[in-house]
Amino acid sequence: MYSKVLEFVREQIAQNGRPSAPYRDRFQHTLRVVKWAERLQELEGGDLEVIRLAALFHDIGWDRERPHEEVGAEITHDYLSGQGFSPEKVRAIVEAVAHHNHRDAPGLFSKETLILQDADFLDEVGVLTLVWDSLAAAFNPNPSYSAVYQRALGSLAELKKLRHLVRTPTGQRFYDERVAILEKCLADLEFELRGYST
Ligand SMILES: [Fe+2]
Ligand SMILES: [Fe+2]
Repeated sequence: MYSKVLEFVREQIAQNGRPSAPYRDRFQHTLRVVKWAERLQELEGGDLEVIRLAALFHDIGWDRERPHEEVGAEITHDYLSGQGFSPEKVRAIVEAVAHHNHRDAPGLFSKETLILQDADFLDEVGVLTLVWDSLAAAFNPNPSYSAVYQRALGSLAELKKLRHLVRTPTGQRFYDERVAILEKCLADLEFELRGYST
């Protein structure tokens, strides 16, 4: 069952036409979000099957005119309805997909939805932020070590500003750990980049 779903998600993402940076593979992002969701579920609880499937389907949809989570929720509903799940289970998975970007009203959502929101948020926070910024700088004109450093400093400041959007205590702990690692990496990078001065 899981490998069939995985293949369906991989194909849908490959075909959905969502623009992305050349180095950013959305299926790989999806797999990392599944992993973050499993890590969060282990400590926060919640229905593991709902959380796993919602994470797998969360970025499946794309449309220029409508929010991708809305399109994704429809595809998720249509696919899972024919797979022998109970209607409650399908509803819980579809709800999480439909609201994975709605971080403004935490009181309205299930634990599974909040875990998916946090899992999605945690991907590319930490050392991966630096990898992302390195690749982004490399694809820009005049790439350089200091361009990577400057860009990553901006990302670090942005991540600190967004911290209040992380919903679960475990998500907040993971987020703080990843941001602290990034901050340490950047302090070391600044040290290593320092040139000779009199
Ligand atoms: Fe998304
Ligand atoms: Fe995502």
